[in-house]
Amino acid sequence: MTGPDNAKLARFKELLLARCGLGFEKEREVALIRGVRQRMASRVLEDSDAYYGLLTGDAAEFNRLVELLTVNETYFFREPDHLRLLVERLIPEIVGERKGGQVRIVSAGCSTGEEPYSIAILLHEWYGAESGRLFAITGVDIDATAIDRAKQGVYGKSSFRGADAGLLARYFEPFGREEYRIREDVRQDVTFEVVNLLGTVYPASMQAPDVILYRNVSIYFPGQVQQAIFSRLAGLLTEGGYLLVSATETIHHDLGILSLVEMDALFLYRKLPDIRIEDRRYRRRAGGENETATGAGGIAAPPAHTQGGTVRHGHASKIDARARTPEKRAPSIVAADVHALFDDALGLARNNRPDAAIELLDTVIGRDGTFVKAHSLKGSILLNASRFDEARGACKRALANDPLCLEASLMLGIIARHEENYDEALRRFREAIYLDAACWPGHFYTAEIVYARGDRKRARSGYESTLRILENGSLAEHERAFFPLAFKADQFVAICRHKLSLIKDQGK
Ligand SMILES: C[S@@+](CC[C@H](N)C(=O)[O-])C[C@H]1O[C@@H](n2cnc3c(N)ncnc32)[C@H](O)[C@@H]1O
Repeated sequence: MTGPDNAKLARFKELLLARCGLGFEKEREVALIRGVRQRMASRVLEDSDAYYGLLTGDAAEFNRLVELLTVNETYFFREPDHLRLLVERLIPEIVGERKGGQVRIVSAGCSTGEEPYSIAILLHEWYGAESGRLFAITGVDIDATAIDRAKQGVYGKSSFRGADAGLLARYFEPFGREEYRIREDVRQDVTFEVVNLLGTVYPASMQAPDVILYRNVSIYFPGQVQQAIFSRLAGLLTEGGYLLVSATETIHHDLGILSLVEMDALFLYRKLPDIRIEDRRYRRRAGGENETATGAGGIAAPPAHTQGGTVRHGHASKIDARARTPEKRAPSIVAADVHALFDDALGLARNNRPDAAIELLDTVIGRDGTFVKAHSLKGSILLNASRFDEARGACKRALANDPLCLEASLMLGIIARHEENYDEALRRFREAIYLDAACWPGHFYTAEIVYARGDRKRARSGYESTLRILENGSLAEHERAFFPLAFKADQFVAICRHKLSLIKDQGK
C-alpha cells in the first residue's frame, strides 16, 4: 500500500488546514504521509482517493487522523515561571479587583490536561478548599482521546518530569503499577471539552475568561491561522484579561490585537482599551518625549522614567508601561546635571560636532550608567559616523539597561543589515516593530530586505505600512520619532512609492 502522491497529498493538506488550522508543509509533510498511511492501513484501504472520500464524510475518521497528527507533548508545571506569575501575581490581582463571581481560566490546547491541572494544584496550594469556589478552570483540545485521558486524570511518569516531589505526593495517589491519579477534589475543579479552536462556535465554558493559556499550540499553525485563532481568543477575554503563550511563541503573536506587557521579566498579552494615535502622540509629548533629556526625545530611547509613551495605539503593538516592573528601570530621578549635560550633548550632535557630543555623553554615562538615552544617543552618533562596532556596543548597553529600548533594536538592525546579516537584521526590525508598530524605519528596512529576497508580497506590505505611517501626521515629527540624525522622511516616502510601483509592474 502506498501513500498519496504530491497532487493528492495537497488535498489532504488543504482539508486539515481549512478544518483545524494544521499546516503540513516542508518537514511536517512526512508526518502527514505517515499518518495517512497508518489510517489507510487501519481502514484496510489501498487507494488514497477512497480514504480522502471517507475522511471528508466521516467525522470520527477525521478526528482519528487529527489525533495522530497533533503533537500532544505536555507535562505538569511546564514553563513554571508562567505558572508562578499567574498564581502569585495575576490571580491575586484579579481576585482583589473582583467584586464577586469566579475567576475564569481557560487552557486552550490543553492536550491530556497537565496544564489546567497544574494551575488547579497551585491554586489549591494558595487558596485551599476555597479554590473550587473561586475559580473556574476549563481545558479544551481538538483531540477527543486526549480530552478523555484528561478527564480520567491518570498519568504516567513522563508527565511528572517538571513536578516537585512534594506536590506529587500531596495531589496524586498511586494508580495501578506505574501510574498516578490526581486527587478527586482537584480533578473536579477542572472541566474539559473537545473544541476545535478554528471551529465556528466556542462553548459557554470558554466565554469571558480572565486568563487564557494558549501555550505550545500555535507552533504548527501557518501565519494566517495563528492570527485568526489569536484574534478569536483575544475577543473572548474580559477587559483587563491576560493571554499567555509560550516564550518561543510570543513574537509571532504580536499582531497589535492585544497589548504586550512585561511582568517579572516575562512577556504576556493583556486586553487593554485601545489608545488612538492622537492620544499616543499626546502621551508621548505629555510624557516629555521631545528632544531633550527631560523628554523621551526621538533621537534616543525614551527615558526609562517616562516610558508611558510606549503605550501603543489601536492596530499597533503595545507595551503597557503600567505593567513594567519599576525596579528594573533606571532610577526615577536622574541628577539634574546629568540631564543638562545630555541636552548639551544632543545640541552638539545636532550641530555636527559628533566627537564633542560623544565625549560629553561618556561623562553622562560615567555619572549614571543606567541613563538609557545617553547610550542610545551615543549609538546613533557612532552609527552616523559608520563606527559600527562601537555603535553596537552602545546599543547593547542601552538594551542591557532597558530591554525594550526601541531605538537600540532599530540601530542593531541597521548595523546587521549593513553587515549583510539579514536574518539578524529582520529579527531586530521585528523587535522594533513589536515595540511600536508605528516604527516606520522598522517597516521600511524589513521591506527592503524581503524585496531583495524576492518576496514581493511581504515587501509591498512593508512599504505600504511605511507610507501609511509617514503620510499620517507631519514628516518632521516622523523624522524625529525614532532616529532623526540621518533620516529624511520625504526620501523614504519617495523610495516607498517607487518600490511599490516596481512591485505593481512586476506583478503584471
Ligand atoms: C503540544 S500540546 C500543548 C499542551 C499544553 N498547552 C502545554 O503547553 O503543555 C498542543 C495541543 O494543541 C492541540 N491542538 C492543535 N490544533 C488544535 C486546534 N485546532 N484546536 C484545539 N486544539 C488544538 C493538540 O491536540 C495538542 O494537544
